[in-house]
Amino acid sequence: MNVEQSARLAFSNHFGRDADFVVKAPGRVNLIGEHTDYNDGFVLPCAIEYATYIAVSPRTDDVVNVLALDCDNQTDNFLVNKPLNSHSTQTWSNYVRGVVDELQKRNHKLSGCDICITGNVPQGAGLSSSAALEVGIAYAFNHLCELFIERKDIAKIAQAAENNFVGCNCGIMDQLISACGQQGQALGIDCRSLDLIEVSIDPKMTILMVNSNVKRGLLDSEYNLRREQCYAGAEALSKPSLREVSIGEYESKKHTLDPSVAKRVEHIVYENVRTLEAMQAFTNNDIAKLSTLMAQSHASMRDLFEITTSQIDTLVNIIAKVINEHGGVRMTGGGFGGCVVAFVPNFLVDNVISAIETQYEQQTGLKETIYTSVPSAGVSLIRA
Ligand code: GLA
Repeated sequence: MNVEQSARLAFSNHFGRDADFVVKAPGRVNLIGEHTDYNDGFVLPCAIEYATYIAVSPRTDDVVNVLALDCDNQTDNFLVNKPLNSHSTQTWSNYVRGVVDELQKRNHKLSGCDICITGNVPQGAGLSSSAALEVGIAYAFNHLCELFIERKDIAKIAQAAENNFVGCNCGIMDQLISACGQQGQALGIDCRSLDLIEVSIDPKMTILMVNSNVKRGLLDSEYNLRREQCYAGAEALSKPSLREVSIGEYESKKHTLDPSVAKRVEHIVYENVRTLEAMQAFTNNDIAKLSTLMAQSHASMRDLFEITTSQIDTLVNIIAKVINEHGGVRMTGGGFGGCVVAFVPNFLVDNVISAIETQYEQQTGLKETIYTSVPSAGVSLIRA
């Protein structure tokens, strides 16, 4: 049975009737451009085959009943047109409530429904299972209540839910790629204008995601701190955002900045340029250039933005030694654990996997989990 079928079956068992439709919202992997999104900069993610599936049927009243299969079959229920409080114990339900809260704030007319959520995006791995859930819920209500919200606005609503209700001050990248992803393409995103640039991925290359299985304890607090430091840097340089700071400007003024802020600013300023260069390199299939850019990105996250861990650095080194200039590897996502992403020629995939399997656990005491994916489409509807 596939994941969609499991969602439908659990829905029928729990609610005693069939689901009308299922929404599929993908997770994402970011190829390059880390922590640049909330600095109005550039990112280059793609949606992945792993997704959250949400089975839905309308109700005739205002009640929303939610069943979360992957959270021990926990349930939540609330009234769709009444002000919502966050749930004190079930963190997962705040992603659902948060989206409904944002839809309410925008005065959308909402109606009740029964919902069953499941999926195969690994949780806590930095592959955006939470963004997939938020985007999926927004898309489900969009369809159910005929709201006609555009995909980019679905992403903004999902991001607002995470910022305002869940309390993580994330940027727009994860929600935007889950909403707007394209089959076979990564998307270059200008996070100031939200313009999207399609970047084809060569089918002779494999996107490998390797979960370090480092537990990501401090993610939210450290993430929000990085964001504050970036904003402090922009203010000190009298710019609306770090996007507006060129390498030349940074280099001539860095001595005026607080040293720890300067490191954060340096990462963002150079990472934006690397991301633009990477879009060109993917387009030209210039793998040697990508290899260098991804290595520089990782070193910058390690030494300047200080968001990697020793286990992640070990994993990156193991993979880099196998692929050399034939591919690229770096940590992906918010940091402090989670996954590394490797862009590997198909003929080297087996060698990379066996190097990880023989060395990573031995060097770190942690066992990895390996995933591959082709770039996938954004959120979509599957009817019965
Ligand atoms: C998390 C956030 C994104 C982005 C990345 C880092 O995934 O949700 O908005 O900032 O971290 O690039």
